[in-house]
Amino acid sequence: MGWNSWNTFGCDINEQLIRDTADSMVSSGMARAGYRYVVIDDCWFDPQRAADGSLRAHPQRFPSGIKALADYIHGKGLKFGIYQVPTEKTCAQRGGAYPGATGSRGHEVRDARTFAEWGVDYLKYDWCSPEGTLADQIAAFTVMRDALRSTGRDIVYSINANSYHDEKNGAKYDWSAIADQWRTTEDIKPVWRTGNPNTYPMGVTDIIDVTEPLRDWAGPGHWNDPDMLEVGVYNVEGFPGLTDTEARAHFSMWAMLAAPMIAGNDLRAMPGEIRKILTNRGVLAVSQDRRGVAADRVRDDGDLEVWARPLAGGDVAVALFNRSERAARITARTGEVGLRPGPHLVTDLWTGRKSVSRGELSAEVPVHGVVLLRVRPLT
Ligand code: DGJ
Repeated sequence: MGWNSWNTFGCDINEQLIRDTADSMVSSGMARAGYRYVVIDDCWFDPQRAADGSLRAHPQRFPSGIKALADYIHGKGLKFGIYQVPTEKTCAQRGGAYPGATGSRGHEVRDARTFAEWGVDYLKYDWCSPEGTLADQIAAFTVMRDALRSTGRDIVYSINANSYHDEKNGAKYDWSAIADQWRTTEDIKPVWRTGNPNTYPMGVTDIIDVTEPLRDWAGPGHWNDPDMLEVGVYNVEGFPGLTDTEARAHFSMWAMLAAPMIAGNDLRAMPGEIRKILTNRGVLAVSQDRRGVAADRVRDDGDLEVWARPLAGGDVAVALFNRSERAARITARTGEVGLRPGPHLVTDLWTGRKSVSRGELSAEVPVHGVVLLRVRPLT
């Protein structure tokens, strides 16, 4: 769980923004709810490496340097993450939004050492090229895995094989021997659906559909990453943003998928409703459940779906998911979500309402919405 600069700020980042974000992560209650990692994405670096080949921070945007920023974040009890690529140019450099060619290709050991010296706890490593066979990608991501390991520092390794890639070979590969988490799709934007089959840009439901068949790859210590959260992210690339109902559905489904929960909104100016969504304890308990099993889509009636995620201790999280354009009643039988016949204690994780069920789980679900239930056998 954490926060990353990309979804709201793109290349427009600086050290004051990141410090303020760390402050807000604590003061808003996000840290108390479990968010830990503050991650700076693309565009943090000087477009030129130093004379000895090492990376350095952008002199105007991060004048105090990355070590000072990491120290500040650690001082708040949080962890610090950074971004780099296995290719020659970062995605922003490749797209021309940022100068230079400072990727880690050929610099892996030096860069990993630099990160460890700065106190980096998390590396997002992002393939930014249309080319490369799957074997090339496996080799490149393995080189950095080994470089990180050789530093002796505990660094979460988060990879993305999809950016700019024409064939998206990496989206069909189980990376669990190489990385702690791996992106399953192209980039998310704050939109319910684009209809794109793993091509830029992706909406919430498009990503769910690409990620669902990969569910068996997820487990403790190795996670499918359906990209960062768009809860509270507005006006990006012509997309106005999700409604609150859609944001709750997005957050619920990421919890069901056992996804990394990386917020992407402006934490300094968070509307109350967005803060409530991001810090919902019941939903986060499903997300972080120690059994680490991702949910299964157990029923698909066109736009109305039932998903079930078995939890440690025998509870089951059930999502009644309405993709359609009209409110609908969705009913699941306890048998189909993997429970024996009732009675069951049912908690609606968004309203807090508790009830006892004897066989059916049923709710009226709003347009583009989810009713998320935690179901506990009473016998
Ligand atoms: C592509 C990634 O998918 C995004 O999350 C972001 O890291 C950008 N690259 C940065 O250029």
